[in-house]
Amino acid sequence: MHAASSPDIRLVPVHVAIVMDGNGRWAEERKRPRLFGHKAGVDSVRTVVETAREIGVRHLTLYAFSTENWRRPAFEVKGLMTLLKAYLQSELTTMLKNDIHLLCIGQQDRLPADVRKTLDMVMAKTAHCSSMTLNLALSYGSRSEIVRAVRQLAGKCAGGELAVRDLNEELVASHLYTAGQPDPDLFIRTGGERRLSNFLLWQLSYAELYFTDIKWPEFGREQFLEAIAVYGTRQRRFGKTGAQLRQG
Ligand code: FPP
Repeated sequence: MHAASSPDIRLVPVHVAIVMDGNGRWAEERKRPRLFGHKAGVDSVRTVVETAREIGVRHLTLYAFSTENWRRPAFEVKGLMTLLKAYLQSELTTMLKNDIHLLCIGQQDRLPADVRKTLDMVMAKTAHCSSMTLNLALSYGSRSEIVRAVRQLAGKCAGGELAVRDLNEELVASHLYTAGQPDPDLFIRTGGERRLSNFLLWQLSYAELYFTDIKWPEFGREQFLEAIAVYGTRQRRFGKTGAQLRQG
């Protein structure tokens, strides 16, 4: 591991969530197939996971495949699933060494059986790891996550387990895939678009937003540390005034 270096890191966010955008365009610019970009994107995933762990980020959530991504050409979907499975198989040893717990957020039942099996294996083997949680968002969509939570809560109300007047924000949060984890402090999106794209809509309520034109395959250690440094310069007020915060 390298020593934390270059940009001035004043504050390390507890939870960082990333939309890894721009793989396809990066490849097209090089006249290469889109999967070439996704392959290069896996290297960025490795670098960012390692750097996040090194500087003390406790939760890292990566948007690897959205519910909308199922609409891409079958060839690209299949290629992404193959890359994902290979990544999980090759990273298990490193995750264990670095004490990283893998979790999946999203509709796991829609993933191909072999990917699910590998995911289950890596999640089980890293379940005791506690230095960092790596959430892979796979077949994930925030609105469907919220609907799923609402259905579970409505079921509990209908069954008499829960009273409608007792519903509150904590209960909703505890029925999301991210139950038990703190909300992201920092949201990063690469690839030049300035959108949330149905990612963690509930959980990102107070997150600092960081957008960069750099495409995901070119987002490495230096670019990640720069985003962390920028986060350290932002003042998060959570609805209070600056003066109130200074009074503590
Ligand atoms: C967005 O780029 C990226 C994706 C839809 C997939 C992200 C996947 C990876 C980084 C590799 C596999 C992930 C893991 C965790 C091993 P895009 O294709 O939408 O790019 P574009 O906007 O330039 O077309």
